Amino acid sequence: MDFKHVDTIIEKHQGKRTALISILHDIQDEYNFLPEGALTKVATRLQMNTNDIYGVATFYKSFSLTPRGEHTVTLCLGTACHVRGGPNLLRELKSHLRIEAGQTTADGKIFLQAVNCLGVCAIGPVMFVDGTFHGGMNSIKAKRIIEKIGRKRNGVKHEEN
Ligand code: FES
Repeated sequence: MDFKHVDTIIEKHQGKRTALISILHDIQDEYNFLPEGALTKVATRLQMNTNDIYGVATFYKSFSLTPRGEHTVTLCLGTACHVRGGPNLLRELKSHLRIEAGQTTADGKIFLQAVNCLGVCAIGPVMFVDGTFHGGMNSIKAKRIIEKIGRKRNGVKHEEN
């Protein structure tokens, strides 16, 4: 794996240790996860202990040390979403995708995760997909969204009727 983008990302943040979290976010955006080689490079460039970098990378749930699917589907299980059916929705999606939360589908398309509160409780139950909030979720809507992003990856445009 080529880590030349890591240098660019570190330079963008002027090599500041205080920008570590932003650097890690940018690396994850670039590689879809935090590769070991990239973290080693960050440690060297920022003159930090590798264990400290891993400490940050494992503390925040938004970071992943293993490859994620091309699309991230995040279901909220916070209190407001929980009482509106979040757990049932998660159960249905796990069954539909044949994975557990925290895993990627076998075809590498979708990474599924559950979190506690996405900060938009009023529209719960909420599903967050590739940077977009989808409120008032139910399993039919959720599966439709998942099917749609799956089709996008194949470069085939389909409009919903
Ligand atoms: S509890 Fe789901 S967005 Fe807050």
